Amino acid sequence: MRSLVKGFSRLSREDKVKLLLEQQELAPQLTESFQEYLHPTKQHLFNDISENIISNYYLPFSIAPNFLINDELYMIPMVIEESSVVAAASKAAGFWAKNGGFRTKVIDTLKNGQIHFTWNGDYQILNSYKDEILRLIHLATGSITQKMRERGGGIVDIEFKTIANMANTHQALIKFKTADSMGANFINTCLETIAPHLIDFINNHDQLKSNGKATTIMCILSNYTPECLVECSISCDIEQLKPYAGNYSASEFAERFKTAVEIAINDPYRAVTHNKGIFNGIDAVVLATGNDFRAIEAGAQAYAAQSASYAGLTSIDINNKQFVYTLKVPLALGTVGGLTNTHPLAKAAMQILQHPSAEQLMQIVAAAGLANNFGAVASLVTSGIQKGHMKLHLSNVLNALEASEAEKSSALKHFKDTVVSYSVVEEFLNELRK
Ligand code: MEV
Repeated sequence: MRSLVKGFSRLSREDKVKLLLEQQELAPQLTESFQEYLHPTKQHLFNDISENIISNYYLPFSIAPNFLINDELYMIPMVIEESSVVAAASKAAGFWAKNGGFRTKVIDTLKNGQIHFTWNGDYQILNSYKDEILRLIHLATGSITQKMRERGGGIVDIEFKTIANMANTHQALIKFKTADSMGANFINTCLETIAPHLIDFINNHDQLKSNGKATTIMCILSNYTPECLVECSISCDIEQLKPYAGNYSASEFAERFKTAVEIAINDPYRAVTHNKGIFNGIDAVVLATGNDFRAIEAGAQAYAAQSASYAGLTSIDINNKQFVYTLKVPLALGTVGGLTNTHPLAKAAMQILQHPSAEQLMQIVAAAGLANNFGAVASLVTSGIQKGHMKLHLSNVLNALEASEAEKSSALKHFKDTVVSYSVVEEFLNELRK
């Protein structure tokens, strides 16, 4: 009989598991699984990451080698559950390493915070006091921004806007630079410090106070960071694309690729899937390096929808027999603070990447995204995606069906070059096991 649980967080891990099994009427063997995946010596590190922890959830930590980015070679750590992503990234990286590599540049690293407030005045008057308000907020946050300023960051600018369709609700949109940290805590602390000073300024100012009292509604960073932007390109002579062209000529392949990219620019249904292929690479590196993948997804998906309709994040140019393919994406990443300094494998990922700055990590992550997308689109316009996908999927299916090593090796031989499905593999194993 299920009932509301009181004080769950205060129970020991063992009692949490006991209560869970009782309430959900689960098999007692689950206790062993939860126990099995606890870390024998470093569980305390994981216990500090979240709450109500009863075990750890494992995902593979992989390496995609041969990423040549701005003439520097990287081996990129990727954490992902989808078979074929690491293989596709590695294949594309190897190919592009021989064809000029990835050219990347950080366009800017501005991040945003918002103070929302109600007030009966015109926001444009507030903008005319911008310099005075900036001086005031620099003064109010002097001690909390000092370290960040020493690292080249801090509060950069402020702008007032009225919220669409809400005449008396406004925002102070504050621009920040946060050096090598993702900066969420820094930005939120600054905003909460600034808000009462800003509201006092409005409520006590001779020219502003006649418009009624200003009141803070909330202070929070924005995960929409269109000015924390990185660009990554690959380019080569069209003829060099032959290894990816399958049964097509290199120039037919390039044209088919271009059409596929243009479809993603013009059709939101395709754009979402096209971008999903980009995020296969991006999320895997973001997760491996202990960054906030929800923030990255939210910000970049909003960026993809910034014009009239949601669109693919890549653009393509074919001119004078040159193929130039570019990804532009906002990536608000950090390389200090948060999980990057506490999770043992996030720390290992940072070591593998030679301790990159946040700007370097933006470029590495963008390259992983573009590599995966290039591989996916190249397959789609030639052999189709299932051939490559299913080969790797086969080993997952075999594991799910608890195939022995001998059965696996017969299955791998039998299904070489065939598109497989769960039921076909199951049937094959049933025959073998007769
Ligand atoms: C699958 O994870 C990703 C793809 O769907 C991406 C794409 O369609 O471009 C293959």
